Amino acid sequence: MERIIFDTDSAVFNDDAAALAMLTRRPDAVETLGVTVVAGNYPVPQGAEHMLHLLELVGADTIPLYLGAHSPLVNSPAQAARQEARWGPVSFKGAFDASDTVAPPHGGRFATARPATGGAVPFIIETIDRYPNEITLVAVGPMTNIALALQQRPDLAPRVKRFVFMGGNVHVPGNVTPAAEFNIWFDPEAAHAVLATALPEVVMFGLDITNHAPLHRSRFDRMVAADTPLTRLMRHDMGPRFNADPAATYHIWDCITAAWLIDPAIVTRSEHLPVAVDTALGPTYGGTVAAAESDARTIEVMLDLDLERFFGLYEELLTS
Ligand code: RIB
Ligand code: CA
Repeated sequence: MERIIFDTDSAVFNDDAAALAMLTRRPDAVETLGVTVVAGNYPVPQGAEHMLHLLELVGADTIPLYLGAHSPLVNSPAQAARQEARWGPVSFKGAFDASDTVAPPHGGRFATARPATGGAVPFIIETIDRYPNEITLVAVGPMTNIALALQQRPDLAPRVKRFVFMGGNVHVPGNVTPAAEFNIWFDPEAAHAVLATALPEVVMFGLDITNHAPLHRSRFDRMVAADTPLTRLMRHDMGPRFNADPAATYHIWDCITAAWLIDPAIVTRSEHLPVAVDTALGPTYGGTVAAAESDARTIEVMLDLDLERFFGLYEELLTS
């Protein structure tokens, strides 16, 4: 049984919300103690509404949700503009491009449950303190909340059971610049700080593994045919792109991390590598590099998966 904190930059459905939905379907395998929201895909207030809505939809609104860091440690819209002017486009800037207006979630109504008081960073600290060596920290967005918690309480790092994150790219190109993946690019300094702590075990689900599992229209069509509240949200969020281009595919990055927490046998290949984060503002800002000669810490980099096993679980959990 995994006991986790789910740290997320949120999505309407794909992929943070779908990952959380998967986890809530299997409380026998994963106990989600709390959801902590960080800026990334969306600004925190909007992201929190997506996740509160999702929790209500799956009947898991007793799981508390905490608001976290509204901006990265160093990166900012102004810095991103400077990066683009000098070194070329960043294809997705998430919350940096979003408005401050908070729109109601799908259905037009805000969820009844509201964010818990206290904030994400105190919640992370208190939870690790309360369950020493038992907590798996799961980060599927930028690592700002985790970095702030471990900066405040470095003594807690060795008392985390393990840290599992979606982000980075080792043997493949980035997805927002040729060098960088979004979660790490949004807050490279946080990722660098977290990887430098005394966390006993770190597991990386980067683009190396997530690129292998695109969602195609045939599976999407089969899933939304289930016509449940959850698949109606899936259709609302992901349908327009498939309607515009039936050959389109979706990356469902965070869902692979969620699936592995439930069924570790989905991963078929990994490597232990020293991974460093590039924090020098330049064309490779936010890239993750396997640096054999560096003093970077060694982490487990997930590389490939059993597609049938993964998609079987994904489909079953999201349509049941
Ligand atoms: O690069 C993919 C990651 O960035 C996913 O976690 C996605 O949800 C966004 O946060
Ligand atoms: Ca995410």
